[in-house]
Amino acid sequence: MSEIITPTAPALLWAPDRTEMVRALWEGRPTPPLAYLRTYGCQQNVADSEHLAGMLAAMGYGFTDRPEEADLILFNTCAVREHAEERVFGNVGALKHLKRRRPELLIVLCGCMMQQSQVAERIRRSYPYVDLVFGTHAMGRFPELLYRALTGGERVFDLSEEGEAPEGLPVRREGKIKAWLSIMHGCDNFCSYCIVPYVRGREHSRTPEAILEEAGGLIAAGYRDITLLGQNVNSYGKGLAEPMNFAGLLRQVAALPGDFRLRFMTSHPKDCTEELIETIAGSDKICSHIHLPVQSGSDRILRKMNRHYTREDYLRLIDTARRKIPGVSFTSDIIVGFPTETREDFEATLSLIREVEYDALFSFIYSPRTGTPAARMEGQILEAEKSARLRELLDVQQAIGIRRYEALVGQTLRVLAEGYAKDSDRMLTGRSDANTIVNFPGDPSLIGRFLPVTVTRARNWAVEGVPAEENVPKL
Ligand code: 5AD
Ligand code: SF4
Repeated sequence: MSEIITPTAPALLWAPDRTEMVRALWEGRPTPPLAYLRTYGCQQNVADSEHLAGMLAAMGYGFTDRPEEADLILFNTCAVREHAEERVFGNVGALKHLKRRRPELLIVLCGCMMQQSQVAERIRRSYPYVDLVFGTHAMGRFPELLYRALTGGERVFDLSEEGEAPEGLPVRREGKIKAWLSIMHGCDNFCSYCIVPYVRGREHSRTPEAILEEAGGLIAAGYRDITLLGQNVNSYGKGLAEPMNFAGLLRQVAALPGDFRLRFMTSHPKDCTEELIETIAGSDKICSHIHLPVQSGSDRILRKMNRHYTREDYLRLIDTARRKIPGVSFTSDIIVGFPTETREDFEATLSLIREVEYDALFSFIYSPRTGTPAARMEGQILEAEKSARLRELLDVQQAIGIRRYEALVGQTLRVLAEGYAKDSDRMLTGRSDANTIVNFPGDPSLIGRFLPVTVTRARNWAVEGVPAEENVPKL
């Protein structure tokens, strides 16, 4: 089998004609072909997968959660840490026996990891049973590429860096209550550890009109919790024909009629403005929770990370938000073991965590990424040391998280009931405006509704409570 590598494929837009051509291949089949999708990594990937699923549905596919009965297996991959990449390689390796049993099975790999040429090369050389590989820029060309992979008798690789996420892609959303809405793609920040700007390309904002139309459609379809997504939502608006910043966009979306609430992520501290904080404070639709990744509490490390703020700037921002937004909560991302991080630097991170009192942290061991400046820095930290620091940090945060949750006992929170709590057919689960998971007894008819819940007990990752208008006995 020969192979096509198309580094300069034309930037096709979403192509309904190709979709029809794939659909026509299934004519006469008694049942639709089945696709199995697996998504690695961040919410942006989850949102992308909903579009890939939408395209597959338009191309005549049904869906299964059992890989062994699938006609097409698609992995949407993540490149942000080595661990995620190794999991993908392992899971692709495990597909070999499925392909041997059913040679007509089509195996597709896409997403951030595939946009790296050394990864695509490794797949080309060592995983000959993978049929189609494409990077983040080729999303809109999926029907074209799939058609070629199904009919051409050749493997297809599209690593072109041309092509922006097109408007109007079909979408098949996972949930009925919560929805992801991408407002921008790519990143211009080049934090020195991060691969994202290399694999997702330059920042590109969708127009406010497109975003408002999508948000309006979601609200009309009954979605109650909408998260505006971007690698750095605070720099939304660069390059738009009509000037608009993120605070302005938030106000416009929040002004749409309907019973819903708005979240957003991720915010970069360097672009988080007072205007944004005031916008959150001034709207009852915008949730009082900010995911504000600090990455490190040491100014020396922040400089080496190319983050463009100091510890003091960050703490001032937190203080302003606490003063202006009642009940605001913060979560953050932290990297431990960045090159040259000393015990003193790490302790500066621990002290910042204690000072801010986050509700929750996403903490990561630094992972060198080929092509990023930090991977070439002297002073890489030993794995054992990085792991020990991570454990120490998790312990510090766990005590803080529990204290934060205990402080909620007795308070009544507005909760959106999302479904049954894990392993329960009696308890419902939902989130407060501050993004705390709240479990409470309730009738399934409440799912999809906002209701007041009085917190009765703090757990590790959640709180428990009782609906406030009912006289339910204490848990
Ligand atoms: N190593 C460890 N963590 C990383 N992140 C991004 N790149 C790396 C890396 N090379 C983390 C950052 C970012 C989150 C999404 O992933 O904390 O905010
Ligand atoms: Fe990566 Fe920094 Fe961009 Fe976030 S802001 S995606 S950490 S480069």
